[in-house]
Amino acid sequence: MLKTITEGKARVKVPTEEKISSKLPVFYNPVMKFNRDVSVLLLKAIDKKAMQIGLPLAASGVRGIRFLLELPKSKIKTVFFNDNKKDFKKTMAANLKLNKIGKSKVEVHNKDANRFMLDSTGFDYIDIDPFGTPNPFLDAAVRRIARNGILAVTATDTSALCGSFTKACLRKYWAVPVNNEQMYEVGLRILIRKVQLIGAQFDKALIPIFSYSKDHYMRVFFRAEKGKQKVDEIIKLHNHFQEAGPLWTGQLWDTKLVTKMIKETEDRELIRFLKIIKAESKISTVGYYDTHTIYKKQKNLPRKQDLIKKIKKKGFKASETHFLNTAIKSDITKKELLKLI
Ligand SMILES: C[S@@+](CC[C@H](N)C(=O)[O-])C[C@H]1O[C@@H](n2cnc3c(N)ncnc32)[C@H](O)[C@@H]1O
Repeated sequence: MLKTITEGKARVKVPTEEKISSKLPVFYNPVMKFNRDVSVLLLKAIDKKAMQIGLPLAASGVRGIRFLLELPKSKIKTVFFNDNKKDFKKTMAANLKLNKIGKSKVEVHNKDANRFMLDSTGFDYIDIDPFGTPNPFLDAAVRRIARNGILAVTATDTSALCGSFTKACLRKYWAVPVNNEQMYEVGLRILIRKVQLIGAQFDKALIPIFSYSKDHYMRVFFRAEKGKQKVDEIIKLHNHFQEAGPLWTGQLWDTKLVTKMIKETEDRELIRFLKIIKAESKISTVGYYDTHTIYKKQKNLPRKQDLIKKIKKKGFKASETHFLNTAIKSDITKKELLKLI
């Protein structure tokens, strides 16, 4: 049984079942609305026209339908929807009709995601949004992302990336994770390095322009540049952080892009989230200070905002971090911070 739901400007038919499962004939996870909101906003904010958009794991098609309905017309040449689910073509026909979307800017394929990507002539934007790890799809995605194209990658296997299963992280992401308060940023940086290494094989430098960790998943948008030297520069920034790694130690965000994204939205939740990211994007350190962890050892810890002010007064940078509500990002040393507290 299907019901019609609305997300952004899109309407899609999704299963009536309350329990979300990969086994359902059409997959739709309402929790991932935020993930899709960010994708729409990022594509609004980047300077690209007439994009060829590849959605190898399109499911209900909601993401691509939102792109077609919510982005300025000049931005999109074609959205290529693909999923290997039986009846995917029927699902898409129904959902495109429901949204009065004609055939001129749309192609629908029902293949294995890797076959779909490799059979294509390439895309300006590819969205890898799988169940669990993106690993099986990285090779084909990296091959088919255009010069200056945007590759978006989601990973929901946070148990590996956040260190619940160290061996799984070693096998899948070739790095040692942590399972403490730093796990969100460490996991995200481990994921970034893994994708960059796949890019390196094809002389493609994958530069993170917007990254975050939220709920049960991690998400990164890379700009793909071509060139051996650019790749060498990326690899130089693969290092260890404390006992974790190797991981990406470079920038997680393009601050100018984040500023544009803030201007493009009126959604309060997104603005709040983006403002925190904008502030932390200006502090190029790996990791953060969790006030709760420090508080265990220190009495009379000031409130987070007061502590941020105090750190800044001392001449250091400091901000909240989206990674953890109780943490502070700062370039202050731990020794200085403890002295200050
Ligand atoms: C997490 S869902 C994608 C959600 C979708 N991107 C969205 O925003 O709603 C993963 C989708 O990938 C499809 N899928 C899984 N493995 C696949 C493969 N090897 N080739 C093509 N599709 C695949 C599944 O059928 C499922 O619809």
